[in-house]
Amino acid sequence: MGKSSKDKRDAYYRLAKEQNWRARSAFKLIQIDEQFDLFEHENPEKVTRVVDLCAAPGSWSQVLSRVLIKGESFGRRAWVEKKAREEAALAGANSDATDNGADGDADMKELKPRKNVKIVSIDLQPMAPLEGITTLKADITHPSTIPLLLRALDPEAYDSTTSSSPSTIRQPHPVDLVISDGAPDVTGLHDLDIYIQSQLLYAALNLALGVLRPGGKFVAKIFRGRDVDLIYAQLRTVFEKVSVAKPRSSRASSLEAFVVCEGFIPPAIHDGSMGIDALKNPLFGGAAAAHNVSTDGNVSIEVMDVDSEVKPGANLTTTKTVSSTGPHKENQTRMLHAESDSSSKLEPLSQKPVTERFAVENRWIPPFIACGDLSSWDSDASYALPPDHVSLDPVQPPTAPPYRRALELRKEKGGAYGKTKLGALGRA
Ligand SMILES: C[S@@+](CC[C@H](N)C(=O)[O-])C[C@H]1O[C@@H](n2cnc3c(N)ncnc32)[C@H](O)[C@@H]1O
Repeated sequence: MGKSSKDKRDAYYRLAKEQNWRARSAFKLIQIDEQFDLFEHENPEKVTRVVDLCAAPGSWSQVLSRVLIKGESFGRRAWVEKKAREEAALAGANSDATDNGADGDADMKELKPRKNVKIVSIDLQPMAPLEGITTLKADITHPSTIPLLLRALDPEAYDSTTSSSPSTIRQPHPVDLVISDGAPDVTGLHDLDIYIQSQLLYAALNLALGVLRPGGKFVAKIFRGRDVDLIYAQLRTVFEKVSVAKPRSSRASSLEAFVVCEGFIPPAIHDGSMGIDALKNPLFGGAAAAHNVSTDGNVSIEVMDVDSEVKPGANLTTTKTVSSTGPHKENQTRMLHAESDSSSKLEPLSQKPVTERFAVENRWIPPFIACGDLSSWDSDASYALPPDHVSLDPVQPPTAPPYRRALELRKEKGGAYGKTKLGALGRA
C-alpha cells in the first residue's frame, strides 16, 4: 500500500505525520488518558515518574514528554478544556462571548511543566533520542534488564547499594505509572501471537511490580484471546481496579485492547522491599520467571486433588503441592465465584492464599470501555482526501529495522515494491 493510499485508509496514520508523532499509537495513549486521566491533570505532582516499556519508535514517550516535561495539553486535560470552551461559548453567546473564549484559549495554551520528571523508555530496537528521556535498548523479558531499569530510575541509590548487597536495593523513588505497548512480530498464527503477547505482558507486569508505588497505575497492550480472562483475574490480585480499554484509534477488527490497572496494591511477598529480589521472583510467571522451587530444591507444580470434593455451601476444595521427592502439602482454597457465595465481596485477591489466586476457576471479567471522543476519527473508515493532498513522510523512520538487510538486497536488485531495473525480466 502506497503512502497516499494509507493516508486515505488510516486517518490516524495521516494525523500522526501531520501532528509530528512518531507513530499513530500516540493517539491510543491520548484516548486512554482522556477516559482514565492517567496523567492526573488536576494533581500533576501525582504522576511525574513513568516507565515506558516496548517504546520504539517512541510516540508514547513523545506523549509523556509533551505532557510531563513540556506541560502541553492532551488527553483528559485537553478534553476538559475543550468542554469548558464550549460551555463558555454557549454561555457567552449573547454577552461576553469574546472574553470567555479568550480565557478558554489561554487555558489551552498555558504550558504546565511538571517538577522532578523522570521517564525511562525501553525497547529491543534502538530508539531515536528524546530530550529529557532516558532510553534503554533491552529485552523486557530478560532478567538483565532489571538492574538496567533500576539504575536508570535511581542511579545514585543503585550505585551506592549494589557494592554491598544488590538484593537489598530499595527503590527510593518508585514510579507512578508503567505503560507497555509491547507487541511481538506477528506470525499470523493467532494462538502463538497471543501467547507471545501474554508473555510480554507478564514481563511488563513483573517490572511494574518491582518499581510501582502503592496506588500506582499500569497500562499494557493485550490481545483478547481465548483465556484472557485469567490474566484479568491475575491483574485483579494486585490492583484495586482493572478495566479493558479500546481506544477509537485501535481498529475495531483487531484483537488489540489495553488493560488499565489502577490502585497498585504491593503484594505481601514483596514485604515492602522493592528491587532486584522482588523483580526476580515474578508473581505470575512470564518469560523471565524462575520456576517455582520448593525448599528441598525440587521444581514443584500445583495440581488439583482428584479425590477432593467441593462441599456444598462451604465452597472449599483441597489442593496438593507435589514435589518430585518431597512430602505432599495440603492447602485449602476457596472459590471466588460471586454467585456461589452471596456474601462474598470483590476484594483484592492478594489477601488470599496463593492457591486461590491462581485457580483457573477464579476468572473475572473486567469492564470493557471504548474510549476516545466520539467526534474523533474512526480508525476503520476511509476518508476522502483533498485533491491537493500531499502525503508526508513518517516523522521517525525506524533507526535499525530488522528488515533493513532485506531492503538493501531489494535495492541492490533494482528498487523497492518489486520495480526492478530489469522490469518484468528482473521479476521473473
Ligand atoms: C507497537 S510497537 C510500540 C510502539 C510505541 N508504543 C510507540 O508509541 O511508538 C511494539 C514494540 O515492542 C517492542 N518489543 C517487542 N518485544 C520486546 C521485548 N521483548 N523487549 C522490549 N521491547 C520489545 C518492539 O521492538 C516494538 O518496538
